[in-house]
Amino acid sequence: MPQLRVHNFCLSLDGFGAGPDQSREDPLGAGAERLHEWVFKTRTGLEMLGRPGGTTGLDDEFVARGFEGIGATVMGRNMFGPVRGPWSTDPQWSGWWGPNPPYHHPVFVLCHEPRPPLPMEGGTVFHFVTDGIEAALERALAAADGRDVRLGGGVSTIRQYLRAGLVDWLHLPIVPVLLGRGERLLDDGLTGYRTTSFAASDEVMHVVMERTAA
Ligand SMILES: NC(=O)c1ccc[n+]([C@@H]2O[C@H](COP(=O)([O-])OP(=O)(O)OC[C@H]3O[C@@H](n4cnc5c(N)ncnc54)[C@H](OP(=O)(O)O)[C@@H]3O)[C@@H](O)[C@H]2O)c1
Repeated sequence: MPQLRVHNFCLSLDGFGAGPDQSREDPLGAGAERLHEWVFKTRTGLEMLGRPGGTTGLDDEFVARGFEGIGATVMGRNMFGPVRGPWSTDPQWSGWWGPNPPYHHPVFVLCHEPRPPLPMEGGTVFHFVTDGIEAALERALAAADGRDVRLGGGVSTIRQYLRAGLVDWLHLPIVPVLLGRGERLLDDGLTGYRTTSFAASDEVMHVVMERTAA
């Protein structure tokens, strides 16, 4: 049965998945780029940027797993971009990733503002879903056609799916930095999940959790 999987959702030691004051210049929020530095030291992380080299081993394996067997992605609007309110304030906005985003499959963006689908180079099509998390997941599962769906983020989106018990598998890299401010993932606690593995590299602790109840 296809699963909803979270991969490489990086958290600071004090539990933040995004820094404060997200903006066009600082999409991750202040200081939060430190959560992702380890990704771009790996071979797969550099490959996403079209660059050669990078480390192999534990960190690279986790980054690579995030692409395996995935047929669609769901994300929140803030992860897609900095536009808030009506899209007409920036109708050209097409995501952070340039003309050829690294998804290469349908991506369902949760939002309250309707917008027609946005096809990109390389097979990515952004669909804008205004009728909630269940509808977005249903559409993503249909589009994935038997493969799994990846839940990309950000914080508020993953929190909603966790609260609804819809996430099957969750990989949280814990990065040994303190952000102090921002958006915490597990502020409401987390029930119905258990840790199935953890392993540390020199950079990060990889925690894997699975849902315990159907
Ligand atoms: N730590 C990591 O590994 C990681 C990974 C991915 C992203 N991030 C970061 O996370 C941050 C974004 O997270 P976030 O929590 O601010 O926002 P988000 O979850 O990306 O998006 C929230 C927005 O999505 C729309 N939305 C969410 N749920 C909805 C629903 N049920 N129905 C309709 N619309 C819905 C709303 O947009 P509107 O109401 O405006 O339409 C809402 O304001 C960014 O800084 C990003 O870089 C971190």
